[in-house]
Amino acid sequence: MIPTQIYSNEDLDWRDHDSRVSREHDNESLRNIPLTTTTVENWNSYKTVFIGYPIWWGIAAWPIDNFVKNNNFSGKTVIPFATAISSDMGDSGKILRDYAKSGKWLKGKRFYSSESVENAKDWAASEVRR
Ligand SMILES: Cc1cc2nc3c(=O)[nH]c(=O)nc-3n(C[C@H](O)[C@H](O)[C@H](O)COP(=O)(O)O)c2cc1C
Repeated sequence: MIPTQIYSNEDLDWRDHDSRVSREHDNESLRNIPLTTTTVENWNSYKTVFIGYPIWWGIAAWPIDNFVKNNNFSGKTVIPFATAISSDMGDSGKILRDYAKSGKWLKGKRFYSSESVENAKDWAASEVRR
């Protein structure tokens, strides 16, 4: 899912109190990020949906919010996963589940950048087999 106004490196500079993300972090009303699309082709054919996002200030990066709010997860198993430097999943999955209002949301998993692609693939396969 791509924000209509993509984030530049400067936008993402969380050390700069005046950067785009910092302003969005400080003011929740700025976190309603328009996306180029929130629809997925053949959405109804999927029983399991993985939703991945980076952790920003302990929660899911908010550009994912409108994707979650605008889709119907009824009858689907939803598996969140996150990338982060040091944080855990925290409440990120629960918050997204509340936005979605539907679907069976599993706990999911946080990955550090040191994670191998093989491990990530194995984890995804084991979640689908559950
Ligand atoms: C605005 C912003 C806030 C972040 N906050 C956190 C945080 O609270 N905890 C953490 O472990 N990592 C944090 N990070 C690091 C990102 O989670 C990390 O860069 C990302 O998961 C790696 O994915 P990427 O390569 O797409 O950036 C933050 C990064 C940005 C840009």
